Amino acid sequence: MHTIKFVHIGVVLLLCAFQLEATVKRDIDLSALYKGISEDRLPKEIIPLSYEIKLEPNIEEQTFCGLVKIKLRWINDFKKIFLHAHFDLILKDDKIKLQKIKRDIGNGTTFENIIILRSGRLPRKTIYVLHLKEIVQKDSECVLEIPFEGNIWETADGLFRGYYTNSTTLSQEVYLATNLKPNNARRLFPCFDEPGLKVPFTVSIARPKNFTTVFNTPLLRTIQHPVLSHYMLDYFDKTPPMSTFTFGFVVSKLNRWSINPMNETYNLSSPTINIWSNKFSTELQEVHEKLYLVYETINDYFNLTIPLPKIDVLAIPDLPTINSNGIWGILTIRETELFKEGYFVLARELVNQWIGSWITPEWWSEANVNKALTSFLAAEFAMTIDGGVEFNGKYPMTILYSLYYELSKRYPHSRITGMKQETESFKTELVIRMLNFTLGKSTFQNGLRKFILNHRYKTFIGDDIWIALSNQAIKDGTLDSGLNISYIAESWISQNRLPLITVNRDYDKGTAKINQKVYLRERPHDVPDKEKMLWWIPIIISRQDTLNLPNYTSKVWMNRTKEINIANLPDKSQFIIINKEEVGPFPVNYDEENWNMLSNFLQTAKGRSAIPTYTRAKLLHDAWNLAYAGDLSFATAFNMTLFMKYERNHIVWSPVFTFIDHFGRYIDMSEVHTKFERYTIYFLAPLYEELGPESENEKHCKTEMRKLAKTFLCRAGYPPCIAEAQQSFGMWINESNTDFDRIPKEYICPVFKWGSMEEWKFGLKYVSQFPKSRLRSERTFLLKMLVGCPSEHEKINHLLDLALLGPNSNFTENDILLIFNTLTGGSVGYTSLLKFVVKNWTFIRQRFQTKTNLWDKLISSATGMFATQKGYNMVKDFYDQHLGQFGSAQHIIEKSLRNIKEEAQWSDQNLPVIEKWLETFLSNTISKK
Ligand SMILES: *[C@@H]1O[C@H](CO)[C@@H](O)[C@H](O)[C@H]1NC(C)=O
Ligand SMILES: *[C@@H]1O[C@H](CO)[C@@H](O)[C@H](O)[C@H]1NC(C)=O
Ligand SMILES: *[C@@H]1O[C@H](CO)[C@@H](O)[C@H](O)[C@H]1NC(C)=O
Ligand SMILES: *[C@@H]1O[C@H](CO)[C@@H](O)[C@H](O)[C@H]1NC(C)=O
Ligand SMILES: *[C@@H]1O[C@H](CO)[C@@H](O)[C@H](O)[C@H]1NC(C)=O
Ligand SMILES: *[C@@H]1O[C@H](CO)[C@@H](O)[C@H](O)[C@H]1NC(C)=O
Repeated sequence: MHTIKFVHIGVVLLLCAFQLEATVKRDIDLSALYKGISEDRLPKEIIPLSYEIKLEPNIEEQTFCGLVKIKLRWINDFKKIFLHAHFDLILKDDKIKLQKIKRDIGNGTTFENIIILRSGRLPRKTIYVLHLKEIVQKDSECVLEIPFEGNIWETADGLFRGYYTNSTTLSQEVYLATNLKPNNARRLFPCFDEPGLKVPFTVSIARPKNFTTVFNTPLLRTIQHPVLSHYMLDYFDKTPPMSTFTFGFVVSKLNRWSINPMNETYNLSSPTINIWSNKFSTELQEVHEKLYLVYETINDYFNLTIPLPKIDVLAIPDLPTINSNGIWGILTIRETELFKEGYFVLARELVNQWIGSWITPEWWSEANVNKALTSFLAAEFAMTIDGGVEFNGKYPMTILYSLYYELSKRYPHSRITGMKQETESFKTELVIRMLNFTLGKSTFQNGLRKFILNHRYKTFIGDDIWIALSNQAIKDGTLDSGLNISYIAESWISQNRLPLITVNRDYDKGTAKINQKVYLRERPHDVPDKEKMLWWIPIIISRQDTLNLPNYTSKVWMNRTKEINIANLPDKSQFIIINKEEVGPFPVNYDEENWNMLSNFLQTAKGRSAIPTYTRAKLLHDAWNLAYAGDLSFATAFNMTLFMKYERNHIVWSPVFTFIDHFGRYIDMSEVHTKFERYTIYFLAPLYEELGPESENEKHCKTEMRKLAKTFLCRAGYPPCIAEAQQSFGMWINESNTDFDRIPKEYICPVFKWGSMEEWKFGLKYVSQFPKSRLRSERTFLLKMLVGCPSEHEKINHLLDLALLGPNSNFTENDILLIFNTLTGGSVGYTSLLKFVVKNWTFIRQRFQTKTNLWDKLISSATGMFATQKGYNMVKDFYDQHLGQFGSAQHIIEKSLRNIKEEAQWSDQNLPVIEKWLETFLSNTISKK
C-alpha cells in the first residue's frame, strides 16, 4: 500500500487559495460556554435552508479543502451560530463571512455584512461557535460562508481513500469515497449534522482528469479547472432535501457497465440503475438484472416510485471497515457482497433508498427500528422473488433460536455486550414479522405505504410506524378499535425478555386456561421482578381438524394479563396448537394430554404431512427446551422426539442437533449417557442411511445434514462410522509417508474415543515428537482430541502420568493448561483428573502449588464440573481430607461445592425419569426386533 506512485498534483488548489475578507479574530476565551448541549446536539434557534458546497480533494496529499455557503434562518432572536465541525476539520476563522439577505421591493436581494467577533470550538465537543456582534432578529435569513480544510482517511470515516488492483493492467489504483454515517458529515464540511435537518445541496467537486465522480445526483456539466490543468470541475444537480449523513460521492476509475438489462420487462422510466466496476463479466450482467428485479419488487410493494433519476451501484473490490454504504442515489458495496447468491443483500441495500434515505430515523437511537424494518422487508422481497429458496428455512429460525437462547439466560448478554444491540434489533424484526402475520399482509403493506408517504423527505420515530399500522388495521378491521399497536410493540421492545405461554385444557368443558410468564431456560429461575413482566401476545389457535387453513389473523390478543380463558375448544380426541409457524417469538407449553396427542399424531405419516414444517420444528424445540428449563417432564419431551425416526426435513432436524449436543454434554456424567447414545443412533441412523453417499449436484442443505448426522453418529459410536474412521487412521499408522492431515478431521475423535489403546498411543507419540515442519495449530488440535475424546480412564491416566509426573516431559505449561481445560469437557476427563490428583496429591501439590495459575486451573478443572450427588461426595471427601492445603485455590473448591449442590438437585430429579424412559424404550424396540 505504501509503495504506490501517484501522479504528482503539486500546486495548491484553487479554493485553498481563495482570498476572503478577514473578518474574524480567533476565539481565545472559551469560558463563556453555551450550557445544556448534550450528545453534541445543536440549539434550535437557527436552522439551515440549503447548502452550496465546493470540494477539492487532493488524493496525493490525503487532504481536501472546500468552501461551504449555508443559507440559514433564525427561528428566534439569537446572537451566536452553533454548527458541527469535527476536531480534524480546520475552519479558516479569519475568512468566515456572514451576510444578511435583504429583500428590496422590485430589485431582488442585497446583502449586508454581519460582523463575527470571534469563533472557536466547544471543548471536547464537535461543535463550533460563532459569536456575532449583534443579535440577529427572528425570521432573518443569512448566508454563512466558511472555507475549510480536512484529511482524507484510510478507514471508512468521512472522506476516505482505498485501493484496488486494475483488472487489466494489474497496477494498483486509488479511489476516494465517503461514509458520513452516522455523524461524520462534520468531518467533511461544517454543517448542521442532525438527520432531522433535511435540506437541498448544490455541489461541485474537483477531480483529476482520468477519474470520474459519482455524486448523489446526476452530473450537470464539467469544466476545466481554472487553475489546475490536470483537474476538472464537476457540477451536480441540486439534491432533494436530505440529511447530511446521506450526502456522498465516489471518485474513481471504475468503469460504468453500459449495457442495459436484456430483459425487456424492466421498462422503468426512472431511476436508471448503473453499475460501476473494475471488471466486465457475465456475472455483472446477472447482478444488473437482479438489481432491476429487486428494485421493481420494492416499487410494487410500496407502490411508490422513489424520486431519483438514477442509482449508481459501485462495486468496490475492498472497502475498508464497512461492507456497504447506501445513501441517496448511490450504493457503494464490497464486490463480494454484491455477487452474493440470492436477493436478500441487494434488497436490504436498495430498500434503504426508501427507508433510510427518503425517510430517515429522527435520531440514532431509532436506528435499530430502521434496521429491523429494512431487514424484515428485505426478507419479504427475497421471498417474493424466489419463493423462499434463498433462505431454505433459515428465516427467521436462525435469529429466532438465537433469541430464545440468549434471552432465557439468567443474565442475558453478560458475555458479549456488543451483542445487545444486535439482539434488540432481531427482536424488533420478529415483532414486525408477528405484525405482518397477525394484521395480514395487505394491512401491513398498506400501513407501511402510508407511513412512507407521510414521512417523505422527513424523519420518523419508531412510534410513527406503529401508529400507521394501527390506523390501517383499525380501518381494515384486523384490529379492534380499542387496541393500539404502539402498546403491543412497546411491550415486546422495552422488555429484554420473551414470554412463555402455558396452556391447560379442560377437556370436559372444552375450555383452556392460558397463562403467560417470562421464559427462563437457564436455572435457577431467580430473576428479579419476573412477576411484573407481561406482554401483549397474539393467541392464534389451530385445531387438529383445521390444521391446513393458513389463517393467522384470527386471534385473541392477550392483554398484558397473567391469565385468560378460552372457550369453544375441541373435545378429548383433538389436540390444539398455539403459535403455529412461530408467528410470535414465544415458546408454548401444553398439558401432558395435549402433548401426547401431538406426539402420537406426529408418528403417523398423515400427521407429519398435516403439521407444517416450522410448526413441527417448534413443537420439538419447545418441548425439549421446556424440559431442560424444568417446566415439562423429560418423558414427555422424549415422546416428542419419537417421530424423528421418520422426519426428513432439514429445518426440523436443525434444532435436534443442537439439543443432542447440549443435552448429551449435560448428562455425560451419568450412566444414562450410554443409553442416550444408543437412542441417538436409533433415530439418526435411518436418516443417515437414507441420505446415502454424496452426489455431485445435491443441495447444500442435504450435504450439511449428512455431515451433521455423521458427526453425531460417530460421536455416539455408530459402528459403520467407527469402522470407516479406523480404516482411515490405519493408513496413517501403516504407511510412513501418509501424513495425518490426509485423514478427514472428523475421524480423529471417534478413533481416540472408540478405537484401541494402540491407536490412541500412536497419536500421543506423534504429538510428543511433533515434526517441526508442521503448524503448531495442528499439534494443538491433535492434543485436544487426545485429551478430550477418550471414554476410558486408562487413556487419560496414561496421559496425566506423562504430563504431570514425568521428569522431563515434552509438555509445556501451556500444554498442561490446555489439558486441564479440555478435561472439563467430559465426565471421564474430569473424574479421571480428580482421582489422579487424589492419588498423587503430595507430589502434585509440591510441583504445582507455587505456580498459582496452573494450580488454580487444576483445582477448578478437577472439581468444578460435577453435577450429581455422587460427584458432590467425591469432591467433599477430597476437600475434607486436605483441608487447609489448597492455598490459593481454597475459594475455588468451595465455589465448586456450592455449584455441584445446585446441579445435583436437577440431576436427582431428572436423571431417573430420563433413564426410565430410555430403558423402557430400548428394551421395547430391541425385544420387538
Ligand atoms: C433598483 O435598481 C436601480 C438600478 O439598478 C436603481 O436605480 C433603483 O434606485 C433601485 N430601486 C430601489 C428601490 O432600490
Ligand atoms: C491519464 O491517462 C493517460 C492515459 O491513460 C495517461 O497518459 C496520463 O498520465 C493520465 N493522467 C493522469 C493525471 O492520471
Ligand atoms: C424477464 O423477467 C421476468 C420477470 O422476472 C421473467 O418472468 C422472465 O422469464 C424474464 N425473461 C428473460 C428473457 O430473462
Ligand atoms: C485500468 O487501467 C487502464 C489503463 O490505465 C484504465 O484505462 C482503466 O480505466 C483502468 N480501470 C480501472 C477499473 O481502474
Ligand atoms: C398505486 O398508486 C397509484 C397512483 O398513486 C394508484 O392509482 C394505484 O391504484 C395504486 N395501486 C395499488 C395496487 O394500490
Ligand atoms: C408476511 O405475511 C404473509 C402472510 O400474511 C406471508 O405470506 C409472508 O411470507 C410474510 N412475510 C415474511 C417476511 O414473513
